Amino acid sequence: EGADGTPVPTVKRPVSSVGVVGTGTMASGIAQVFAQAGYDVVYVGRSQEKLDGVVGYVTKNLDRAVAKGKLDEAGKDAVLARLTGATEREALADVDLVVEAIAEDLDIKLELFRDLDRICKPGAILATTTSSLSIRACADATARPADVIGMHFFNPAPVMKLVEVVTTEATDPDVDETVRALCLATGKHPVSCGDRAGFIVNALLFPYLNDAIKLQESGAASMETIDTAMKETKLPMGPFELLDVVGNDVSLAIQETLVGAFGHEGWQPAESLKQVVAEGRLGRKTKAGFHTY
Ligand code: CAA
Repeated sequence: EGADGTPVPTVKRPVSSVGVVGTGTMASGIAQVFAQAGYDVVYVGRSQEKLDGVVGYVTKNLDRAVAKGKLDEAGKDAVLARLTGATEREALADVDLVVEAIAEDLDIKLELFRDLDRICKPGAILATTTSSLSIRACADATARPADVIGMHFFNPAPVMKLVEVVTTEATDPDVDETVRALCLATGKHPVSCGDRAGFIVNALLFPYLNDAIKLQESGAASMETIDTAMKETKLPMGPFELLDVVGNDVSLAIQETLVGAFGHEGWQPAESLKQVVAEGRLGRKTKAGFHTY
């Protein structure tokens, strides 16, 4: 039995190779997680430059671990050797599990799932790390909805242990169990959740982050004061710091999805959130967001 009383999951569909689609922060982090846990990883991006970005991200993190004495050079090389980049999705034909982390846009995801359905071998598990879009819509873009599941990692993926495992009515229970077992095998903590916009964490976290911006807009307190106050409640980061880590474009997209799904008037995205996105101040990844880096 696990800590929450549920049976410890076992791998029902053997997984030794993992495909990651995307080259952004989440995709890079997820590729690192699996490579570090000993899986062979094929990661797919649109250009060699983007593929190089994934290696750069992972190398930087591994170098930091080496500098801290937590990993030796041989261990670093072994992790990097398990990563294979490809610019064609056809490279995913033989993997046992695909985790996609491409743009948070339903049409783009649906086009990808149609491709995965065409390319991947029978029995492959097709997972999305969407943070707020419908898993069922992705599943229904394929002729194998039983193999489709949500596997929602958090940013930064190599550090954050939580993974929301999101099933639909169509998901094969063996797929659910295998994915939860894989989470444990990669040192993650899976929680099970239904296919509802925002799942657990984002449905609760983003209205709070959005409200933090509106509080600042009201003139009640500065960004710095709000960040400091919330950190005093033992949250690891203040809301503006966390928005900049997640990315303001991603945060805006999530908030818009939540408004679309639940229609709460009070959840309309804050004006300053729309403004920083329009100005390209997307957060740490562009060296400026609410704060400057
Ligand atoms: N990538 C890889 N490793 C990183 C990292 C990164 N971006 N940032 C920090 N780390 C590592 C550090 O190297 C360090 O590793 P060791 O323990 O091996 O030495 C470890 O993480 C702790 O880092 P620090 O001591 O530098 O800093 P910290 O204690 O403040 O931790 C943090 C950093 C883990 C990011 C912490 O600030 C935190 O938990 N912040 C909140 C993050 C959060 O809530 N994320 C969820 C956002 S919502 C989301 O992601 C959902 C979505 O769909 C968008």
